[in-house]
Amino acid sequence: MKKTTYKASPDIALVKYWGKKDEVLRLPENGSVSIIVGGLETTTTVEFQRDLNKDEVTIQGKKVTKELERVCKHLDRIRNLAGTSSFAKVVSQNNFPLSTGLSSSGSGFAALTLAATKAAGLELTQKELSILARQGSGSACRCVCGGYVEWLDGERSNSSYARTIHPASYWNLRDLVVVVNEGQKSTPSTKGHKTAKTSLFYSERQDKIDEKINQVKQAISNKNFVQLGELMEAETLEFHSILLTSVPPIIAWHPGTVEVMLAVQAMREEGVQAYFSISTGFNVHVLTTSNHEKLTLSRLKSLDSVKRVIGCSVGGEPKELNKHLF
Ligand code: DP6
Repeated sequence: MKKTTYKASPDIALVKYWGKKDEVLRLPENGSVSIIVGGLETTTTVEFQRDLNKDEVTIQGKKVTKELERVCKHLDRIRNLAGTSSFAKVVSQNNFPLSTGLSSSGSGFAALTLAATKAAGLELTQKELSILARQGSGSACRCVCGGYVEWLDGERSNSSYARTIHPASYWNLRDLVVVVNEGQKSTPSTKGHKTAKTSLFYSERQDKIDEKINQVKQAISNKNFVQLGELMEAETLEFHSILLTSVPPIIAWHPGTVEVMLAVQAMREEGVQAYFSISTGFNVHVLTTSNHEKLTLSRLKSLDSVKRVIGCSVGGEPKELNKHLF
């Protein structure tokens, strides 16, 4: 069987997937919209080898133990589809910090799905790949796409998948990824999804989420950056209100996260067009336009808690590479 390598980028959700109506199939409670973050990358090589007696998975140079079962289950899905029983050697490398709120599971399971299906000799459609990737990590169903992406929540597995609503070239937004800490976040998203409904604000959120998705898609269609930024930032604060009021509460922010949020709001007072978005971690995405990028970057870099800023663009679809990791 063929050794295969894919490179995929994570995404940042403008309207976030939070809560599942089916945990095994990873069917979300609501649809979501995101932007692929070009510049952050996971590269994964997969080869099914007849002489292996178990799957061997290496991430960032270390043999995986904690998350091994989740990866093996995903490989089982692919083995079932391909009708093979061979175990796989998987090596994966990220160019950004893992488990810090930058959606490494999204790009990780997207790259794994693409590399493993191809390595197993499967030829799947974009929709089939998205449905498969979703079962590894929900956000991965969006990361097999490029540009501006929508995940349709769907009632059943075959209707819950993501698709590109605009290609990356449609609108040249800039995403400054602000790293305030490289350590691991305290609560993984998978755990957080389980307690989403314990927040007294959750049902209120769900009542209005479809309207919010439409507004975000409209702002993208109109290339209205201020409207999009306001919606995205308000969504981040609403999402973190849910986290803070869940039982047990999830406090994802670090002091540096708050410093960045306040700095972004202060910049706007001075006319800089920049808005923040934060997932379940503490590192921050600051979305801006190419005209405002330079100033935003220099202001962010001057903050005490900022370790580094990774300048990103809207990313395209994952790519197959000829150069393998083993
Ligand atoms: C807050 O996709 O990481 O980033 O399906 O359990 O792997 P699992 O969860 P995951 O959750 C992402 C949550 C989020 C919002 C989003 O990306 O839409």
